[in-house]
Amino acid sequence: MENQPNLSKQQTSHSGGDTRFWQDERVQRYDYQQSIISEKKGEALTNLTRIVNYFCKLGSITSPKILDIGCGPGTPTTSSTYILENVPGSAVVGVDSSEQMIEAAKSNLIPKYGQRFSGFVSDFNTDMFWIPEIDDKYDFIVSSGALHYLSDKRRDPFLKQVFNHIKDGGALVCNLGNRSQVTDIAEMEHVFRVEFAYDQLEEEKRPQDFQKFKESFEETDAKANINWHNYDTWLNTMRHAGFKGVDIVWHFWIRSIFVAVK
Ligand SMILES: C[S@@+](CC[C@H](N)C(=O)[O-])C[C@H]1O[C@@H](n2cnc3c(N)ncnc32)[C@H](O)[C@@H]1O
Repeated sequence: MENQPNLSKQQTSHSGGDTRFWQDERVQRYDYQQSIISEKKGEALTNLTRIVNYFCKLGSITSPKILDIGCGPGTPTTSSTYILENVPGSAVVGVDSSEQMIEAAKSNLIPKYGQRFSGFVSDFNTDMFWIPEIDDKYDFIVSSGALHYLSDKRRDPFLKQVFNHIKDGGALVCNLGNRSQVTDIAEMEHVFRVEFAYDQLEEEKRPQDFQKFKESFEETDAKANINWHNYDTWLNTMRHAGFKGVDIVWHFWIRSIFVAVK
């Protein structure tokens, strides 16, 4: 068994996700597509809101201000919806690099939650991310399914900026994709991910041959260009950013919820 990551791959700096991936069909059919590729997403988001509620109670925070990074389209299966629905008195500022995602989030959430939601377009892989509309201090910064699109170059500085935008006593609560450093185990996790997607599709809508499906899944996945790292890298990055306590509180194959307290 190979225990070392592929060094030649590691030496090239990863440019982060391709923001063009998140438009058109991926906005319009978001919840359906997530139900196929994101195993136990509901459980992860229920836990994310439970964690926020726990810290609100602990710090007697009655109307938490929350930044949701990579907020998506504000449909029922997204982080912003879970928070607005389950964290009483919360106000969510959603930010996403996709204009279409923010348009959808605004039209899905503002009619239902009014001023408790506001949404802005900005890309965390640029130095200009903290536009005036979001450049504030938050009780919590949350993110689900997005930070694994950070580039290598931005990972350290961005996590430091996240730290600086959280009030004392607040926390970063994020659910993000990570992959084992052990090549054989990383491949196992990947196969499980593809198997889950295959099993969600009705028989007539999927190729008979699993291998063919796996290849087309990988082709689509490559377009998103996830910057995979193992969870140690993420824990160290968060510690380095200044958080006084960092841990993983939930983990399922390639997804983990990190809590970083300030
Ligand atoms: C898998 S979706 C997660 C959406 C939502 N948080 C949820 O719970 O379903 C990933 C989101 O991250 C956004 N994203 C990807 N790269 C980004 C970047 N560089 N800056 C800001 N948002 C980004 C995408 O546009 C997309 O809406």
